[in-house]
Amino acid sequence: MKKAMSDYRPATKAVRAGQERTHEGEHSEPIFTTSSFVFESAERAAARFALEEEGNIYSRFTNPTVRVFEQRLAELEGAQACVGTGSGMAAMLAVCMAGLKAGDHVVSSYSVFGASHTLLTGIMANFGVQTTFVDLTSLDAWRDAILPNTRMVFFETPTNPLMEIGDIAAISELAHAANPDIKVVVDNCFCTPILQQPLSLGADLVLHSATKFIDGQGRCVGGAVVGDEEFVGDKIVSFMRTAGPSMSPFNAWVFAKGLETLPLRMSQACANAKQLAEHLSGVAQVEKVYYPELESHAQYDLAQRQQRKGGAVVSFEVKGGREAAWKLIDSTQLLSITSNLGDTRTTITHPYTSTHARWSEENKALAGISEGLIRVAVGLEDPLDVIDDLVF
Ligand SMILES: Cc1ncc(COP(=O)(O)O)c(C=O)c1O
Repeated sequence: MKKAMSDYRPATKAVRAGQERTHEGEHSEPIFTTSSFVFESAERAAARFALEEEGNIYSRFTNPTVRVFEQRLAELEGAQACVGTGSGMAAMLAVCMAGLKAGDHVVSSYSVFGASHTLLTGIMANFGVQTTFVDLTSLDAWRDAILPNTRMVFFETPTNPLMEIGDIAAISELAHAANPDIKVVVDNCFCTPILQQPLSLGADLVLHSATKFIDGQGRCVGGAVVGDEEFVGDKIVSFMRTAGPSMSPFNAWVFAKGLETLPLRMSQACANAKQLAEHLSGVAQVEKVYYPELESHAQYDLAQRQQRKGGAVVSFEVKGGREAAWKLIDSTQLLSITSNLGDTRTTITHPYTSTHARWSEENKALAGISEGLIRVAVGLEDPLDVIDDLVF
């Protein structure tokens, strides 16, 4: 009997899912750089436009290369449907616009990516959607914040940069117990489906910034929404068709190829990060290390249960505040001073004055972003060279 792609293991899905060979018999996926598609007749065109016949019309709606990426990622997340978007933020926007209307309420963790926070408080608030922010780790806070008009619950886990863990199963359960119509949305950018599959733990939708580990070499900006046929295959698809924050075929090709090596890259990057975290734990000038696979992590047990590995991001606080943090960052010779992550190259950043610079002092204090905090997103160099580059 012919096996379905879902019967294969993750590393096989990462390499093989989504590809349909053309009549040319190509081994690797081609890039369909075409904005529109032609029809055999006016009648067939009419049938496509009326959605009576399946098939491509225009690359704002569907494109074969984008479809390879979407099907591959859907298989890895264990989902029915996936839609590629022009960026990770476009994926978040698509979920908000397709799933919310004026008068709706969102509960979000405080510790989300800055632009996600601004999208909710700035843009969505202008359209009459209110958001309550809660402590990711307090289940009581999530429960208390849900209102009769709550339609979406949103969080990242682990968080950037402090690597706090949100209990996906528990938050999904309490949200659905309050109202089965609430969509539980998890940004799975830091873990990727290789380390955790939020849908299998009860979440409804997964968001990705493909820009990070999925690309894996810091080349393209893109994103994805992953979930069921009803919401993603219907509502998100029709939002994309109308509003158009679509993924380009070239970027989709880069991401599809990135997925092929994602299991290997994540495995090595996690091992390298763990080695760095263990080393930093023994450095006298380091006040605290934040890494989920260290027993000192406040949610070590949950991380062990929920994630296959600790991830590739290590944050730590140096003694001496901003001056000491900047001195250490500026003394590096190998590491790249940039705020992107998920690259083969290890990056180093000072969240207080970069990724979180626009946050108020109060919010930074609430989220624990101190002036001595440094985030290292570990890549694929020899971990000993990364360790040697951090001269205290
Ligand atoms: C956790 C997380 N979510 C979403 C985004 C937004 O993704 P993009 O930059 O692809 O729009 C980022 C980007 O840094 C991120 O780190």
